[in-house]
Amino acid sequence: MAQGQGRLNSSTKIPKGNLSDGNRKLDAFSKQMLAQHRKSLPIASVDKRLVEEVQKHDTLIIVGETGSGKTTQLPQFLYNAGFCGDGKLIGITQPRRVAAVTVAKRVAEECGVNLGEKVGYSIRFEDMTSSLTRIKYMTDGLLLREALLDPHLSRYSVIIVDEAHERTVHTDVLLGLLKSVQDARSKSLNNLQNTKNKKTNNDIQLKENGAQCLNFLKQYQGRTPLKLIIMSASLDARIFSEYFGGARAVHIQGRQFPVDIFYTLHVENDYLDASLATIFQIHLEEGPGDILVFLTGQEEIESVERLVKERLKQLPENSKKLVAVSIFSSLPSEQQMRVFAPAPPGFRKVILATNIAETSVTISGIKYIIDPGLVKARYYDPNKGLESLVVVPISKAQALQRSGRAGREGPGKCFRLYQEDQFGKFEDSTKPEIKRCNLSNIILQLKALGVDDISGFDFIEKPTRSAIVKSLEQLFLLGALTDDCKLSNPVGRQMACLPLDPIYSKALILASEFNCLEEMLITVAMLSVESIFYSPRDKKEESRTTKKSFASPEGDHLTLVNVYRASNEFLEKRSGLSKEKREKAFRKWCKENFIDSRSLRHARDIHSQIRRNVEQMGLRVASCGDDVLQFCRCLAASFFLNAALKQPEGSYRALANGEIVSIHPSSVFFKNKPECLIFNELVETNRKYIRNTTRIDYLWLTELAPQFYAVQN
Ligand code: CDP
Ligand code: MG
Repeated sequence: MAQGQGRLNSSTKIPKGNLSDGNRKLDAFSKQMLAQHRKSLPIASVDKRLVEEVQKHDTLIIVGETGSGKTTQLPQFLYNAGFCGDGKLIGITQPRRVAAVTVAKRVAEECGVNLGEKVGYSIRFEDMTSSLTRIKYMTDGLLLREALLDPHLSRYSVIIVDEAHERTVHTDVLLGLLKSVQDARSKSLNNLQNTKNKKTNNDIQLKENGAQCLNFLKQYQGRTPLKLIIMSASLDARIFSEYFGGARAVHIQGRQFPVDIFYTLHVENDYLDASLATIFQIHLEEGPGDILVFLTGQEEIESVERLVKERLKQLPENSKKLVAVSIFSSLPSEQQMRVFAPAPPGFRKVILATNIAETSVTISGIKYIIDPGLVKARYYDPNKGLESLVVVPISKAQALQRSGRAGREGPGKCFRLYQEDQFGKFEDSTKPEIKRCNLSNIILQLKALGVDDISGFDFIEKPTRSAIVKSLEQLFLLGALTDDCKLSNPVGRQMACLPLDPIYSKALILASEFNCLEEMLITVAMLSVESIFYSPRDKKEESRTTKKSFASPEGDHLTLVNVYRASNEFLEKRSGLSKEKREKAFRKWCKENFIDSRSLRHARDIHSQIRRNVEQMGLRVASCGDDVLQFCRCLAASFFLNAALKQPEGSYRALANGEIVSIHPSSVFFKNKPECLIFNELVETNRKYIRNTTRIDYLWLTELAPQFYAVQN
């Protein structure tokens, strides 16, 4: 245990030096360590065999234990084997943004290049690639968007669909799309070959130039065969193999040390409290080794992070050596690499993570797992047309993956904050997302790709008919589809171009007509991050009062706009300062105002991106100024499917489906409830809460959304 260095005074500071920022230059020693680490990975001993398999088979499935080196090493093997000839790219898709970014940084480091040169990444709202990039990490959703512009994905020689077992809706659709792209590219190549063969029979000239000519054509039309690799951590390769007509699957032998599993004896009512208690129990009683805690989202992670820091202050000097780091998908890139850096000497690291750490990212040094057994997931009820974010129990497969994280480098321990018989009741595996999410986004993209018959699309697993129908109906009501379910022009096409949920895209398009695009851009950016405000348990009142200073009587949307503008004003006043000083002042300002600085920073980045998007589309960016009703009317016209009416006892009835919901305590309307409102999000905990609400006039609905309300009433 880290003990006995009594010389540190009461303000024990954590040395920052060890925490890397990702784009560092390595010294000779670090380079050597890195090379050694690479050689020790399980995948290193089968590099030649893997390359041969890829050469032999156009489609290959690779299954391997998390941490064996699939994501970081395979692209480098393929690059070195010449798969990027003709300037083609190796693309690797990830279900999660953070994984794409951190892995790209790591691989750039391993290759000894700057990020964005040979190795880069591209995720929504952030592109770190250049004309030099050959190994490109990206989210699966982003590659789908690229297909809109380049249907044959002709820039790529190899596409690796990583983490396929996660079965996100984007992965599933991507697999279907890649299957058809691969077919199309092979066919057009065969056609070329046939044409060439026919001609060469009677054309001596062409015979001589044949190979050269074919090469030229290949390059010109970008039609080399597409190598497709599906990578997965779970052992069930069969479903992918069958889907790709019996494609070959290879397994990489990993290493796994024993992990002792501990269950709680009683049901834990507050898993955050239980997590905190377990962190300190391990820290104070167990031997060295880092701790990984699985939490459900950014808010939770940040609140546990604060609690850890507070409790540390109360510990005696020699027990203070614990450093908390976090990782979740919207964490700003410059902070993401901190979880990978070893803790300073003598310190123990506790990593607070979402289920991103289950398989997507592998962090060295972990010996203890704390698993509350929960995950936040999207659930869609097609009958009610309602999508909600729900915290649900994980599956047995996930619990197994989580505990496995403790046994990568030596024996470990996993503390499950649930009882053994609760584990017995978990589902065996997680239901693919496509079976439980709103499909309107994906349908819009498929339509834009020219896939008109959605039910006829070759899905690895078909979504339910009712989900397809409901999503089509929603797109129709938003004006994205015509009567015969074709993409409408220009609205549907414009909506498909924006990298946003269809309902947000529609809000932006409408806002340019309502002269409030400036406000709507801010709103959409602020709604695209998890949570702007936070309220620490011990400062609830204080944070509530501070929040009131931003509150708008019209609702939460304009409150968010106020926060954004206040941050603008704050930063503008400090434009003379250096970047670091400005950033520090910004963080301080956020803290004083109980604003999550990471979220606000992220929202500001998203804002500049989507502003560029709408300007390119030629939409007019204007402000409604003091005429805020105009903005509220625009919200009603966009989010009419999420309108709710107050009930006598103070709850609300959602008009689209009759669901009874309550206003979230974070809303400006929690105490002072208007008759009618629109909301953005439904969160289900012990109750159904609506979040982000704005007051509207009931009569606006029939006026602004007659396609829905005139028929209903
Ligand atoms: O994809 P797979 O789970 O098979 O492994 P990987 O992500 O390629 O990771 C291989 C090794 O690289 C692991 O030992 C990680 O600890 C290490 N790694 C790292 O140190 N930093 C990163 N940003 C990514 C990976
Ligand atoms: Mg991986």
